[in-house]
Amino acid sequence: MANIKYDFVGKHFVVTGGAQGIGFQIAKNLMQSGAKVSVWDYSAKALENARSELSDFAASVQFTQVNVADYSACTAAASQLTGAIHGLINNAGITRDKSFAKMEEVDFDTVIETNLNGVFNVTKALLGYFDSASQNKRLINIASVVALYGNFGQANYVASKAGVIGLTKTLARELARKGFTVNAVAPGFIQTQMTAAMPPEVLAQMAAKVPVGVLGSTDDIANTCLFLCSDEARYINGAVLSVDGGLVC
Ligand SMILES: NC(=O)c1ccc[n+]([C@@H]2O[C@H](COP(=O)([O-])OP(=O)(O)OC[C@H]3O[C@@H](n4cnc5c(N)ncnc54)[C@H](O)[C@@H]3O)[C@@H](O)[C@H]2O)c1
Repeated sequence: MANIKYDFVGKHFVVTGGAQGIGFQIAKNLMQSGAKVSVWDYSAKALENARSELSDFAASVQFTQVNVADYSACTAAASQLTGAIHGLINNAGITRDKSFAKMEEVDFDTVIETNLNGVFNVTKALLGYFDSASQNKRLINIASVVALYGNFGQANYVASKAGVIGLTKTLARELARKGFTVNAVAPGFIQTQMTAAMPPEVLAQMAAKVPVGVLGSTDDIANTCLFLCSDEARYINGAVLSVDGGLVC
């Protein structure tokens, strides 16, 4: 049961990687609160599934197949938007985990190109499409708790997410006077389709590492994003909000 009700009627958000997992939940929760959402994702299959799962919101959603790692694809997608936007959630992300000894240049570059360059590409492509009259423009970048403490086998991913945090803090300073707040959300262990396929004992071990004793849900991350998107969050800028049950504290 929700205690907080948001009203995003008349607002338009872009959610990258919005066809699946955390991004899908963010997009859905925004629409349930009245927003129009443009879902950007590169997976045709995930977009098709999302279209069918979000059929109740058909009038409020636009699906665009775009690779965030490709700057010209992002500018082309931006030009197809219908109407100005009020917020962007840079959520698209990938992993290519290997120990540093085994990690190839392509593993490193691919993850940086999607997770870090992708945030640059989409943000740069969309900057001119924000509603210039709004003083509550929102930019939220999905980072990860591992950016704050490192993680075995994730040199590429951790570097990309630490870069996202640096970019967030710089944009928070540069864009504040133009009516933006820019924040990062750092999820901990979140239950997704990927974790659903893991053996119960592995999931129990993961949960045991979390002070609150359970894994997070996609709703935990979406709820945080909705709050940051709200007018009430107007004075939060340049923050990295860990949503991890106390994993990093
Ligand atoms: N799941 C977790 O436990 C967890 C923890 C910390 C951070 N995160 C971050 O949260 C975000 C979402 O993770 P998730 O678990 O929902 O992942 P997911 O793999 O379930 O979904 C990611 C979505 O992004 C899309 N995508 C990937 N690369 C893309 C690209 N180049 N262009 C456009 N779309 C692309 C995929 O098609 C997919 O729909 C990621 O940035 C991830 O790093 C997740």
